[in-house]
Amino acid sequence: MNSKLILIFAAENTMEMEQTWLNEAFKGEIPIGFRGKVDWSSPSNIALVKYWGKKGKQIPQNPSISFTLSECRSETFIGFEKADSFGFRFFFEGKENPAFGAKIEKFLLDNMVFFPFLNQLSLTVESRNTFPHSSGIASSASSMSAFVMGLMEIEYQLVGPSTGSGTLTKASYFARLASGSAARSVFPKMALWGMTEAYKGSSDEYAISLENDIHPIFKTYRDSILIVSGETKSVSSRAGHALMEGNPYAPARYALANENIKNLLAALKSGDLDTFINITESEALQLHALMMCSNPSYILMKPNTLNLINEIWGFREETKIPLCFTLDAGPNVHLLYPEQEADKVEYYIKNVLADYCDQERWIADHVGDGPKKLL
Ligand code: PMV
Repeated sequence: MNSKLILIFAAENTMEMEQTWLNEAFKGEIPIGFRGKVDWSSPSNIALVKYWGKKGKQIPQNPSISFTLSECRSETFIGFEKADSFGFRFFFEGKENPAFGAKIEKFLLDNMVFFPFLNQLSLTVESRNTFPHSSGIASSASSMSAFVMGLMEIEYQLVGPSTGSGTLTKASYFARLASGSAARSVFPKMALWGMTEAYKGSSDEYAISLENDIHPIFKTYRDSILIVSGETKSVSSRAGHALMEGNPYAPARYALANENIKNLLAALKSGDLDTFINITESEALQLHALMMCSNPSYILMKPNTLNLINEIWGFREETKIPLCFTLDAGPNVHLLYPEQEADKVEYYIKNVLADYCDQERWIADHVGDGPKKLL
């Protein structure tokens, strides 16, 4: 099938899904006294091929692939009760947080047609992160995916098990609308978000699981997050995506990302670590190069980000241990390596790399199994 046909087919598929969700939405009268609570924990994820640049309604300019993490998570509790109209309050780590709450409330109001039962509910949301304060780790992927899992469950309680509610595809679709990369957090192990001819069933509107198409070595991969700085980023992801619009390198970037997706998918399947390392590090550096080439340009790496990269390169050359790094939109370094190398690499982190970290802080994470229901 040529790419235009695939695109038309994928778009029709999504429209059909949306129509089903609209048909199945709970439109009845919620009984007086109806109340309950749901509680979900969902992980963060780290992209190997990066999503950087978007169009339309949270549609990525290129496909991306990520590891789902295990330890860096958000736990989101939603209390709900029958009300005359939609009500919403949001608390983060015990304190009411109107700024973050406004983002979720806007997402709900924008998508009310899919969740019309919300017009009869008052929600109190309490969210907290398992990773430490000021670790510079973005929490929108974990918090938005946890929130959407809870929302799906409220719907499920109202409409029952005979519908498509509660499917991970639906959760991913709405997590994407809440915060792009959150679309990938709902799947265990690894996820692909964005249409690519290299993978059947891929979509710009939701992520899909790669769990059954990866070599076992990647299912237990380690990610040690080296905290270079715990400060909040000077430029938000939202602003960063927007700056891609005028970036002269954008067309070349999107073409290269597509090429990297194709080659990374093959390497993930075969367990080819050389290609994995090559693409992962190149993607991390490209992300930051794009920031430097934006107008206005900006730099999110810190001196110790570069010191760590040079250390890691030297250590890999010397020991032949297949470790590599990736970077998020910030200064912290994610050190990726196979589980069987964990003893040697952790010894190296404690004795060498920790010196470059803010107060010697690092987080031992690994590939995980996705969201968990807590209540
Ligand atoms: O989901 P957002 O809008 O926070 O963007 C995420 C961007 C990166 O983390 C830099 C890359 C990615 O694919 O997760």
